[in-house]
Amino acid sequence: MKTRRVYVSSDLGPGALGLLKESGCEVVVHPDRDRPPSRSELLDGVAGASGIVTLLSEKMDGELFDHAGPQLAVVSAVSVGTDNIDIEAAARRGITVTNTPDVLTAATADLAMGLILAVNRRIVEADAFLRRRESWSWGPRFFLGRDLEGEVLGIVGYGRIGAALARRARAFGMKIIAAGTGPARDGVERLPLQEMLSVADVVSLHVPLTAETRHLIGPREFASMKPRAVVINTARGPLIDEGALVQALDSGRLRGAGLDVYEQEPKIHPGLLVRDNVVLTPHIGSAGEQTRQRMAMLAAENTVAVLTGGDPKTPVAC
Ligand code: DGY
Repeated sequence: MKTRRVYVSSDLGPGALGLLKESGCEVVVHPDRDRPPSRSELLDGVAGASGIVTLLSEKMDGELFDHAGPQLAVVSAVSVGTDNIDIEAAARRGITVTNTPDVLTAATADLAMGLILAVNRRIVEADAFLRRRESWSWGPRFFLGRDLEGEVLGIVGYGRIGAALARRARAFGMKIIAAGTGPARDGVERLPLQEMLSVADVVSLHVPLTAETRHLIGPREFASMKPRAVVINTARGPLIDEGALVQALDSGRLRGAGLDVYEQEPKIHPGLLVRDNVVLTPHIGSAGEQTRQRMAMLAAENTVAVLTGGDPKTPVAC
């Protein structure tokens, strides 16, 4: 029998690569650790592959699946988000798509909580201030931010990560509400989105990116927000209309923003880069060592499961 080939678009470390190799597959890894494969390298790499282990920056579409060939059985995302993958095109070709939910929930919620703290208490701005070696002395209004205790956190997308953030924020004394109309989970009050926006001091986004959620937060939503609200996004950049966000910051309508994701990654809107009240991180929500290892292992396990005729742990439904 011909050895099956798995194309892995980035070096996932010895654990995950070892698992793939032990299953008897030929494993081909994109050789450059510091640079993701270009589209043409991807197309070359996947040709003849039965499995692809892919990162969220790589577009997985019908053209690529056809280029890989009819033996392609599984595309395993090393991420919970799968907006880079054309799931329907995969399903039409009988290709299983898998992702890595759960294992990154805590890490992503930690970062969202960190951004809330950083923006509300102006931590990054204060650090930059000291590094400029400006003179300073303690004063009652010096670097005043907002206490978290008693603030209302509005969660858009009360799923795994939203709920994990709620647990963290509760420990800081925040009151939690969520956007939506379904029954309340964890005793969290749900309100229609526009209503929730009008009462939340901090709004944090935790929905997947789909055609329906693109620009979920735009000019109308910023106008509905409580004056001086803070916006946090650790989900996907295009959930927010970035131009409208910059306008809302410029007008003083928003107190600040904490962003880990961007509309046109890796580009960042220049209007965000110049603002002290915006804390920016480069899509590091799941970038904890243990989390990244778990993600890599889960993606490898899913790949092996499909290629050996079993059920993957975390398939993505079409
Ligand atoms: C995901 O898994 O979708 C994250 O954005 C990667 O950290």
